[in-house]
Amino acid sequence: MVRVSIPLVGFLLLCCLASVTRAETLLKYKDPKQPLNVRIRDLLSRMTLAEKIGQMVQLDRVAATPEIMRDYSATPQDWIQMVNGFQNGSLSSRLGIPMIYGIDAVHGHNNVYKATVFPHNVGLGATRDPHLVKRIGSATALEVRATGINYVFAPCIAVCRDPRWGRCYESYSEDPTIVRKMTEIIPGLQGDAPKKGVPYIGGRDKVAACAKHFVGDGGTVKGIDENNTVIDYHGLLSIHMPGYYHSIIKGVSTIMVSYSSWNGRKMHANHDLVTKFLKDTLNFRGFVISDWEGVDRITSPARSNYTYSVLKGISAGIDMLMLPYNHTEFIDIVTSLVKSKAIPISRINDAVRRILKVKFILGLFENPLADQTFLDQLGSQAHRDLAREAVRKSLVLLKNGENADSPVLPLPKNTSRILVAGTHANNLGYQCGGWTLTWQGLRGNNNSEGTTILSGISTAVDPSTEIIYSESPNADFVKANNFSYAIVVVGEPPYAEMAGDNLNLTIPEPGLSTITNVCGSVKCVVVIVSGRPLVIEPYLSRIDALVAAWLPGTEGQGVADVIFGDYGFTGKLPRTWFKTVDQLPMNVGDDHYDPLFPFGFGLTTEPAKSS
Ligand SMILES: *[C@@H]1O[C@H](CO)[C@@H](O)[C@H](O)[C@H]1NC(C)=O
Ligand SMILES: *[C@@H]1O[C@H](CO)[C@@H](O)[C@H](O)[C@H]1NC(C)=O
Ligand SMILES: *[C@@H]1O[C@H](CO)[C@@H](O)[C@H](O)[C@H]1NC(C)=O
Ligand SMILES: *[C@@H]1O[C@H](CO)[C@@H](O)[C@H](O)[C@H]1NC(C)=O
Ligand SMILES: *[C@@H]1O[C@H](CO)[C@@H](O)[C@H](O)[C@H]1NC(C)=O
Ligand SMILES: *[C@@H]1O[C@H](CO)[C@@H](O)[C@H](O)[C@H]1NC(C)=O
Ligand SMILES: *[C@@H]1O[C@H](CO)[C@@H](O)[C@H](O)[C@H]1NC(C)=O
Ligand SMILES: *[C@@H]1O[C@H](CO)[C@@H](O)[C@H](O)[C@H]1NC(C)=O
Repeated sequence: MVRVSIPLVGFLLLCCLASVTRAETLLKYKDPKQPLNVRIRDLLSRMTLAEKIGQMVQLDRVAATPEIMRDYSATPQDWIQMVNGFQNGSLSSRLGIPMIYGIDAVHGHNNVYKATVFPHNVGLGATRDPHLVKRIGSATALEVRATGINYVFAPCIAVCRDPRWGRCYESYSEDPTIVRKMTEIIPGLQGDAPKKGVPYIGGRDKVAACAKHFVGDGGTVKGIDENNTVIDYHGLLSIHMPGYYHSIIKGVSTIMVSYSSWNGRKMHANHDLVTKFLKDTLNFRGFVISDWEGVDRITSPARSNYTYSVLKGISAGIDMLMLPYNHTEFIDIVTSLVKSKAIPISRINDAVRRILKVKFILGLFENPLADQTFLDQLGSQAHRDLAREAVRKSLVLLKNGENADSPVLPLPKNTSRILVAGTHANNLGYQCGGWTLTWQGLRGNNNSEGTTILSGISTAVDPSTEIIYSESPNADFVKANNFSYAIVVVGEPPYAEMAGDNLNLTIPEPGLSTITNVCGSVKCVVVIVSGRPLVIEPYLSRIDALVAAWLPGTEGQGVADVIFGDYGFTGKLPRTWFKTVDQLPMNVGDDHYDPLFPFGFGLTTEPAKSS
């Protein structure tokens, strides 16, 4: 389910190259000096119905070239060659309309080996730093361009209202105000829009962004992925909509529709919200894209009447459909729906106009092919430093000794012997979470380049400090070794989408027994690596210091930077930390609010004096 897509290309190869070349100077749409609207109108007037419908299709790349995804070590040059191969096909079609190529770069360019992996959005929400997030957007755009790609299916501006949802870590916060502020990633990805509310992409070092998933994806019942969001219109507008309003103001060029339903109606079929509200009221001028197979799932079971689904989806206002399987069937169906006037041609023209607009502002007609310009941006030191800064700022200190007079953190770097324990201490895959090289993420250190939390600790301490690493030590071992202190790093395994839905939110074994075995026997700092708050209250009294590290990504050194006092703790909870799961959903502002740690909580420390 890696959503990487290419538009349908070259299904009508009608004319020879020579005549295209000769006619080129005459074609207005190819002339960058013409105003945008003139170019769009000119091109649209030349297109056949089949060519128009072809523009509305994105094929899943997996269908085209599975091998590059299977090979984790594909180089940026391999990616560029693949993208250019697709683009060559588009350019050789009758009108030479270039394709737009999208990828799920949701925490850095996460599908690509050796890319910088930034903290997932929940951690960025803890930083409360929109400018940092904007810089991450710029860095991500450069890394994506390094592989010849020009479109990202990000940011996710879901407002996760229930941490039982498997996508909660893709949400910056339960608070719409924080989510709205973090739309600053859009000018990072696309550039600063000179004109408010007009789709904008600022140059070859920028990419088209995609605000997703419109709308209410984070509000489903019990956090069940793709399920039903039950809320009144006012609630929808005040909680789930502000992020879209602000994304549009900042010039977002595309918006993806949510699989979920609102009060029982599938969003992919919701004309009132997609057309009347998003396009007509909020005045969104870019294109609306379906989620992967999203239109197929309008019916339950999916595709039980595909003609019906296509009719409902396009009529709702979806402009581009992500089609994993059968585009010929889709084109036949849309053609007959247009011929029978079930879909007016004006709807098709509206969709194609929006798609062409984004392709023009991306500069694709002038620069369709990727080159090597940004090759050295992938995983660059500057980006790794930025990710490390983001990790530092994302850490939330939940407990630091019994009271303010007896702080445990920062830890001394120079001591005799320390214990590092836990499943997540030396595991890059765990630390990066889902959407890292594979859809569900990795479970080990073999596929990503980066620094684990353990190796960050090793680098931070004095060379004379002895580090003993044991993934799940028993209590006798801990007692026998006279450790000065222990750092226990535990949490959730990686997951994505519905595979992460979880009704109990407990730390899986051997995480809990590691806490129990270590804490109590020695002074212990527990670092939780997770996409969301987890059940911790029963263990809290034996834990000396507790840190929420979220899903920090490849730069684990950022954790050590703060634990050892090179920097202070500054992060604030982007979510309410519940006591028990039966309290859920529970969000800041609720009447029955009784959290373990409230939204916004976060102890601070001063950087240690030069150690
Ligand atoms: C694309 O086409 C050009 C010119 O026809 C050719 O030189 C180039 O090698 C092709 N690139 C790829 C990746 O197929
Ligand atoms: C929500 O989930 C329930 C339980 O899995 C399922 O029966 C129902 O069809 C889902 N509703 C929607 C709108 O997807
Ligand atoms: C499928 O949907 C189309 C369009 O709404 C409708 O005309 C057709 O009767 C439906 N087919 C079945 C088998 O229900
Ligand atoms: C695609 O759809 C066409 C038309 O409905 C059908 O003939 C063909 O078998 C389908 N192909 C696949 C691979 O499903
Ligand atoms: C660390 O402690 C050891 C033993 O107490 C001492 O010899 C050493 O100088 C210390 N190192 C630093 C950098 O303070
Ligand atoms: C990475 O390690 C995991 C677990 O040891 C293994 O299952 C997987 O095949 C490895 N992947 C590669 C590409 O070596
Ligand atoms: C335990 O370590 C401390 C220093 O951290 C030292 O003073 C003490 O002698 C050690 N005890 C044993 C039994 O090794
Ligand atoms: C919690 O839920 C997850 C996901 O459904 C499941 O895999 C796990 O076994 C559950 N854990 C407990 C302790 O029930």
